[in-house]
Amino acid sequence: MCPPTYFRVTYSINPWMDPGKPVDLPLALAQWEELRDRYRSLGHTVEELVPRPGLPDMVFAANGATVVDGRVLGARFTHPERWEEAAAHLAWFRSHGYARVREPQHINEGEGDFAVTASWLLAGRGFRSSPLSHPEAQEFFGRPVIGLDLVDPRYYHLDTALCVLDDSTDGEIMYYPGAFSPGSRAVLERLFPDALVASEEDAMALGLNAVSDGRHVLLPQGAVGLFEPLRARGYEPVGMDLGELLKGGGSVKCCTQELRGDPAGPGGTGTAGL
Ligand code: ARG
Repeated sequence: MCPPTYFRVTYSINPWMDPGKPVDLPLALAQWEELRDRYRSLGHTVEELVPRPGLPDMVFAANGATVVDGRVLGARFTHPERWEEAAAHLAWFRSHGYARVREPQHINEGEGDFAVTASWLLAGRGFRSSPLSHPEAQEFFGRPVIGLDLVDPRYYHLDTALCVLDDSTDGEIMYYPGAFSPGSRAVLERLFPDALVASEEDAMALGLNAVSDGRHVLLPQGAVGLFEPLRARGYEPVGMDLGELLKGGGSVKCCTQELRGDPAGPGGTGTAGL
C-alpha cells in the first residue's frame, strides 16, 4: 500500500475524476490508515511504498505490479501522468528480495486488470491494459489467462467490476455483468455459474473494488446490497469508507496490491502477506 500523501485530483483519466472537486487530504489519509490498520488487525502484513510528490494516483498501489507465486510482473501505465509509478514499484520489489521480476513489454496496469483465482488469471482489456499483455502474463506466470472485454468507461479496470472471493478455488467471484461485453459475460457465466452477481447500484458504489482473504471481504461501505449475499456464502463483509479516494476512481482494492507467494521462489525463505 502507498499512503495518499500527495493525493489530489488534478487531471481526469477516468469518469470518476473531476479536477474541479476538492479533496480533503487529511480525511483521505485517515480513511487510508483505517484500511491499512484493518488489514493489520485481521493478521495481514502490510508493506508501505514511499509516496512521491507529483504522482497523485500512487495511492492506487494495485496498479503497480502483479505478484503471483512470488513472481513479479511490473506495470506499464497507459497515461503519462502515471508512467513514473512503475519504476517505484519495481525498485521496491528489487530491494525486497524478489528474484523473479519482469519489466513488461506491453501496457498492463497490474492488478487493476489482472485477478487471480486458484489456477487462472482473469485479465481485463478495453480501456487500459493492452490485449498483448495477456499472452505476456500467461507466458511469465505459466497460468492460463482468460481475457475479458470491458465496455463501460466507469468500469475501466477489471477490479472495478469483478472481485475474486476465494483464490483457493476457481469458483468464487462476484462481478457486475453490465461492465462486460456479451461474449465476456457468457464466459463468466460458463466459468462461474455460482458467482455472486452484483447490481448496478452496488457496482456504482465501487462495491466490486474489494479485497477478500477468503474469509473477510473488505469493501466500500456504500455497497449495501452485497453484505447479505456475502454473509449467506459464509464471508464476513467489512465495510470501509474510502470516500475521498473515490474521487480518484478507486477504493479498497485499488489501494491494495497483494503479494502472493514467496519472493525467493518455491522452497524459499522469504515472507509473504498482503
Ligand atoms: N485515478 C486512477 C486511474 O485512473 C485510479 C486507479 C484505480 N485503481 C484500480 N486498481 N482500479 O488510473
